[in-house]
Parts: sequence; C-alpha cells; structure tokens
Amino acid sequence: VNGLPQAFDRVAERYDLLARLNPGYHKHLSWSASRLGLGRRARILDLCCGTGLSTEALARVYPDAELWALDASPGMLAVACRKPVSARARFLLGDAMDPRAAGALGPYDGVLMAYGIRNVPDADRCLAGVLSLLAPGGAACFHEYSVADSAQSRLVWSAVSGLVILPLGYALSGTADLYRYLRRSVLAFDGVRAFEARLRRAGFTDVRTEPMDGWQRGIVHSFLGRKRA
Ligand SMILES: C[S@@+](CC[C@H](N)C(=O)[O-])C[C@H]1O[C@@H](n2cnc3c(N)ncnc32)[C@H](O)[C@@H]1O
Repeated sequence: VNGLPQAFDRVAERYDLLARLNPGYHKHLSWSASRLGLGRRARILDLCCGTGLSTEALARVYPDAELWALDASPGMLAVACRKPVSARARFLLGDAMDPRAAGALGPYDGVLMAYGIRNVPDADRCLAGVLSLLAPGGAACFHEYSVADSAQSRLVWSAVSGLVILPLGYALSGTADLYRYLRRSVLAFDGVRAFEARLRRAGFTDVRTEPMDGWQRGIVHSFLGRKRA
C-alpha cells in the first residue's frame, strides 16, 4: 500500500468532525448506497470504508444486509470499530488493490467505494478486482469527485478545497498535507466521461452517473455499473 493510508491515520480522530461540517456528506453517501438498488438481505462490501461513515450509510439503507468493510488505515478502522455499526459489519484491514488477501472473498451483491478509486495506485486493476468480487448481476457504486469535464466545477472545487477544506482541515487536525493532496488529486482525476469509459473498459455494463445536490452538484457523483448477469 502506498503512503496514503498512513496520512489518513494522522487525521482519523478528526475525520468525522470534518465530515459533519461538510453539508450533504452523510446524505450523499446514503444516496449512493440506495442507488445500488440492492435487495434487503444483500451481501455488500464497503471498499475504503475509512471511519465507517459509508458503512453507516449502507446500514441505514439496508438494515438487514450482510455488511463487509475494508480499509488500509489502522487509525481510520479503529474509529470505525468504536461505533455501533461495528456490530453490523465485519471490518477488515487490507488493501483495496487486493481485497481477497484481507478476507473479502465475495461474491457480493453490491460494492460501494466512496472516495476510494481516485486514491488507489492502479484504478484499472482495482476495478477488475471489484468486478471479480461481484456476483453475476451485482452492482458497484463509485462515489467520487470528478471535475475535469467542467470549467465551473473545477472553479468551485478549487475555491471550496482551497478556501474552506484546507484551512478547516489544518485547524482541526494540525496537518495540511492530506488536504493539499485532496485538492490536487481531484483536479487530476478522470472527468465523468473518461471514468464512465474506464468502467466500460473494465467490463462493467449499465454504466451511468447520478448527481448530488448542494455545493457538490457537478463535483461529487455516483458512478454506477453492473456485472453482467
Ligand atoms: C476519504 S476516506 C473515505 C472513507 C469513507 N468511504 C467515507 O466515505 O467516509 C478514503 C479512505 O481510503 C483509504 N485508502 C486509501 N488507499 C487505500 C488502499 N489502497 N486500500 C484500502 N484503503 C485505502 C484511506 O485509508 C481512507 O480511509
């Protein structure tokens, strides 16, 4: 695993506070969870689960589902494991590039990856791994920033990340590196059309993108795809 999960270790205890200050963060994760369109008793993997905010969204939307959650940061997972959701989900320490090595064997009816695919060292290889973990007909949702297709989205993202997220993140966690990386990596990530094409190349079908509201409109998206039945 590259050095990123270690950077998340350093902000883990403050992560949820920063997320609470971000209007729409929890609601949008719930939207992505429900856009998976899964049945009541689905088996679901939350890849790059962090402190479990995305796992909580899955638990809200699918109260009877079997939940698995994986992250490479021991610090983020330690926060997740102190929450009530830890009674609902199996949390695993591991690399999203090789979830099976950590015990996430599948097959899953659904995979949610929220703010994860932008951060892995090889997105195509990671997508191939996600597809291989899905049951036939299973659904994946990549909840992610993507601004490259729109000048307005790039402008809003640069303003929000530079003027709000970076100073607030620094004030709350005492380190700015991760927030600088966030700003940069979002600007460098695929546009909506490029990421949809990447999903199709990886073998996903029924690829579509759904929007968020608030300041995240045109900036954060649910990228959805399915494994052929
Ligand atoms: C921005 S957080 C998102 C957490 C959660 N999904 C949410 O929506 O709140 C990104 C997470 O990805 C994890 N991560 C980064 N690279 C990873 C990798 N290669 N394997 C597993 N987790 C990784 C980090 O440790 C971090 O917890």
